[in-house]
Amino acid sequence: MGKPLDIREVAVERTSRKPNRTVVVVLGILIFGACYRLGTPYNAKNDVHRDLSVQIQEALTKPGDQFWWSCTNNVDCGRIAVPTDYHNESIGMTVLAVARWKALNSPSKGTVFTNPGGPGASGTLLASPWVANLVGNDYDIIGFDPRGIGQTTPTVRCHTPISKAVFQANTVLENGFSLPQTNDTRLFSSETREYYRKQTEEFLALKKAEADLCAEHVGEALRYMGTTFVARDIDFMNRLFHGDDEPINFWSGSYGSILGAYLVNMFPDRIGRVAIDGIANPVSWAGDPSYLWARDWLSSTEDTYQWFLSACAKAGPAGCALAESDKDSAQVIGRRIDKFLDHLYDQPLPSTGGMRPGILIAGAVRAVFLISLEDALSWPSFAEDLAEVIYHKNPTPLYTRVVGNPMPLFDLSRSAVTCADSPPLSSKDPRTNPTVDDLIDEGLYTITKVSPHFGVSVTISEPDGGCQFWKYVGGGVERYNGPWNKTLSNKILIISNKADPVTPIASGKLLHGLLNDSSALLVQNSPGHTSGSFPTLCTVKLTRAYFVNGTLPAEGTICEPDGQLFPVSGKSDKLYENDELSDDDQVLLRSAEALGKLFTKRQ
Ligand SMILES: *[C@@H]1O[C@H](CO)[C@@H](O)[C@H](O)[C@H]1NC(C)=O
Ligand SMILES: *[C@@H]1O[C@H](CO)[C@@H](O)[C@H](O)[C@H]1NC(C)=O
Ligand SMILES: *[C@@H]1O[C@H](CO)[C@@H](O)[C@H](O)[C@H]1NC(C)=O
Ligand SMILES: *[C@@H]1O[C@H](CO)[C@@H](O)[C@H](O)[C@H]1NC(C)=O
Ligand SMILES: *[C@@H]1O[C@H](CO)[C@@H](O)[C@H](O)[C@H]1NC(C)=O
Repeated sequence: MGKPLDIREVAVERTSRKPNRTVVVVLGILIFGACYRLGTPYNAKNDVHRDLSVQIQEALTKPGDQFWWSCTNNVDCGRIAVPTDYHNESIGMTVLAVARWKALNSPSKGTVFTNPGGPGASGTLLASPWVANLVGNDYDIIGFDPRGIGQTTPTVRCHTPISKAVFQANTVLENGFSLPQTNDTRLFSSETREYYRKQTEEFLALKKAEADLCAEHVGEALRYMGTTFVARDIDFMNRLFHGDDEPINFWSGSYGSILGAYLVNMFPDRIGRVAIDGIANPVSWAGDPSYLWARDWLSSTEDTYQWFLSACAKAGPAGCALAESDKDSAQVIGRRIDKFLDHLYDQPLPSTGGMRPGILIAGAVRAVFLISLEDALSWPSFAEDLAEVIYHKNPTPLYTRVVGNPMPLFDLSRSAVTCADSPPLSSKDPRTNPTVDDLIDEGLYTITKVSPHFGVSVTISEPDGGCQFWKYVGGGVERYNGPWNKTLSNKILIISNKADPVTPIASGKLLHGLLNDSSALLVQNSPGHTSGSFPTLCTVKLTRAYFVNGTLPAEGTICEPDGQLFPVSGKSDKLYENDELSDDDQVLLRSAEALGKLFTKRQ
């Protein structure tokens, strides 16, 4: 949920003659991606200047020690030592990479902690004016790399980016699962089951290899990377900055909603202002093995897809490349796509242009389609790429999306987190060690009962599974597993889109039902993953009012979108071309969009 950022902090050493000077922070995966494509493995040692590393090392000798330096305009970067195990000091310390946006108004009213989703993404970039525009200028804002991630140490480095890309190229980890999903006769045939079995066996073998690789390269540290520890880290930092009485404030989305649910239930008496957006189900996250998550996650996916088809038909050829004429209905466009995918299942298409030659297969198209459904602003360009292959037999633009998936850049920290959060292997609970048939049956269930088009397509955007192979599944230390219905010291704000294809409104309602009076639910009437995937002024302003004044929207509040899906001029940016918008409102919308990007797979 939520990809690793497409912009991230990569600090490089300045090779000037004044080596003890500034750390240059270069933002942008462009550089990162360019190095990666050129074959230079990302070198973590470039992080900070060598002198700075020495200073950090000298400054951090015990939990609670911190070291800060000025990083960019109004942002300080830092390292904070925390106990690796809050219940056993002898385990040593973990060093969190942090960044702080300083409140523009003084004195500051406290700190808002943030998380970039994933899990697996670096979070320091969230110490930013974008979040400040959402929560107001009274708070310091902390972005940090959670355990195992980015510049925080210990770090999960099992692969190099190159080894990860090569490892998964042309496997089910890159192509997803291919099944004849819209033809029941074929879906339930014994041939299909055999083909599905082959793919599942490959999936499990690759997951086992990843687990073994991380056991070798990361080892014991994997015990301490779960969400429970990250919640404790936030509590620890808040006490460090403000003492024991100051409440904890938090803003996040996607996986950050899981972290938020842990945080408020683990520290119910210390909760200040907390807003979470794009809600995933915490009960199933902590209570069920990951192969059972999809039935929950995908409960709105078909709604999102129907929204895509209807908006495309409504826009017609002027806005949506998949519409051949103004008369095309959503149903007609949908049937055309089904027919194409059925055909592709039997006949993969060779692609020779783009980043890498290869073959386009049905499962991969469904997987990148789901990624695009998360990001409503990307729909016009996705429709163009899909139309290019359906109408012009050119698979390259879509295939480029398949191989251009940025996931390989982010190693296996996501698995380290999800497998530490997962229920430990138990002979009493056979679900913790699923067989190939269990996985097949669950996949077929999800296709038939939950999402016919995308039921087995979430394994690319949400690369979970295989925790049964992880040596420290469940962590074996501390693992929060509810209750999720605590009474909180302050009401929190829960935000769900009407049709979010991976964190459905059902989960927002579930969490609101659990927290009941300790929460308010705000619904945004839009498709996409988190409200920022199709930002509305209404949601942004209500979020801001909550952080600034503590006011919550009334029960049943629904925010309507400002922009248009499939704007007639194709790719142009209709969301902000409304003359009635003030400059301030444009800034708010752009900030929300930038944050939404963190949680979708937008490239
Ligand atoms: C703390 O960790 C050490 C080292 O792993 C171990 O020997 C000791 O038993 C642990 N103490 C507790 C109270 O768990
Ligand atoms: C489904 O597949 C069967 C067997 O290949 C074929 O006979 C039938 O026409 C297909 N149905 C549709 C709706 O495509
Ligand atoms: C909270 O949930 C637990 C089950 O996890 C249940 O036993 C308890 O009654 C619930 N408490 C409230 C106040 O609803
Ligand atoms: C909160 O609890 C009350 C009393 O049990 C119930 O009537 C109400 O529907 C609950 N609210 C939500 C959002 O579940
Ligand atoms: C906070 O409340 C004040 C006083 O009611 C109001 O003027 C202001 O606009 C509110 N701020 C936000 C961000 O809603």
